[in-house]
Amino acid sequence: MKIISYSIRDDEMPALKAWKSQHPDVEVQVESENLTPETASKAQGADAAVTFQQAPYTKEVLEELQKLGVNKLSLRNVGIDNIDLPVAEKLGFQITNVPVYSPNAIAEHAAWLMGRLLRRVPEYDAKIKQRDLRWAPEIGREMRMQTVGVIGTGHIGRVLINILQGFGAKVVCYDIFQNPEIKAADLYVDSLDELYQQSDIITLHVPSVKENIHMINADSIAKMKDSVIIINVARGDLIDTDDLLKALDNGQVAAAGLDVYEKEVGIFNKDWAGQPVPDANLEDLFRRQNVIVTPHTAFYTETAVENMVQKSFDASLQLIKGETPDTLVKY
Ligand SMILES: NC(=O)c1ccc[n+]([C@@H]2O[C@H](COP(=O)([O-])OP(=O)(O)OC[C@H]3O[C@@H](n4cnc5c(N)ncnc54)[C@H](O)[C@@H]3O)[C@@H](O)[C@H]2O)c1
Repeated sequence: MKIISYSIRDDEMPALKAWKSQHPDVEVQVESENLTPETASKAQGADAAVTFQQAPYTKEVLEELQKLGVNKLSLRNVGIDNIDLPVAEKLGFQITNVPVYSPNAIAEHAAWLMGRLLRRVPEYDAKIKQRDLRWAPEIGREMRMQTVGVIGTGHIGRVLINILQGFGAKVVCYDIFQNPEIKAADLYVDSLDELYQQSDIITLHVPSVKENIHMINADSIAKMKDSVIIINVARGDLIDTDDLLKALDNGQVAAAGLDVYEKEVGIFNKDWAGQPVPDANLEDLFRRQNVIVTPHTAFYTETAVENMVQKSFDASLQLIKGETPDTLVKY
């Protein structure tokens, strides 16, 4: 049995070595490059491929793999939006992904963003760099005094609720599908408008489906408390960045913690040292001391990366053995 793995990063190697040592009967070919029409030929002789990339899985890529008899694809990440699914289905591809790898990684990141903004860390960092060690005027706020509105109570939202309750914060939630435990704890409000009215901090944990795109915009911000803090560790296009910038300018939004950005593809996870990033709104966000931008690093923990590697290779092996992994993507 042979698996070819594309886009393998150095930080994935410990988990990959561990998986290989547990599966001595499987040959694993390791490639650092993305899967492209050019690199697809490296899959010659493999039974399956394991991948992780933002670049598209085009018709050409899929056809090249198919020609080599490789039509089992296991993603180390969740997103399948960059796969030409109609073509994949036509070519008989079996695809798996890793929908849940460590909700805690993302939930903790959201909590840290809130904590850093509440305690004015970016402003103090800037002052301390200048050796200005005075307290005022950056007085902090305590988490236990906040009402936090959690939008989306799926895997990540639920972990975050526990973390926030540990701090003593009041949590209110909204989800189009109510989770029985959260419902029993009486944490749901009936509408997003209600959540907007009550929350000092609003944090997003919903997918970027059509209905949710730009759900945070001038209209929704107008319904929020003045000086609200907005956290987005979900998907960049949930927020209309132009509207957020205006609300940061006029103080309607006091601060924002953003791990995702609507035009992040091609910008995040690259070194721009010594030059501005090619996006004026993102540069504007970087310059603000009441905004923290992290380049989609919420998922990036040792535990999550280990889970992504293990789960994707386990699923790949199941496909090779003719078994049906739980994470098989349905067309
Ligand atoms: N920053 C990162 O590194 C990172 C990593 C993983 C996931 N994510 C993102 O986090 C988000 C949540 O992931 P998850 O694993 O918790 O997903 P999930 O599917 O477990 O939960 C999503 C929840 O959102 C709810 N929902 C959908 N639309 C809604 C709406 N309009 N209003 C209220 N609720 C709505 C769903 O009913 C569901 O309960 C996704 O956008 C995902 O892409 C980000």
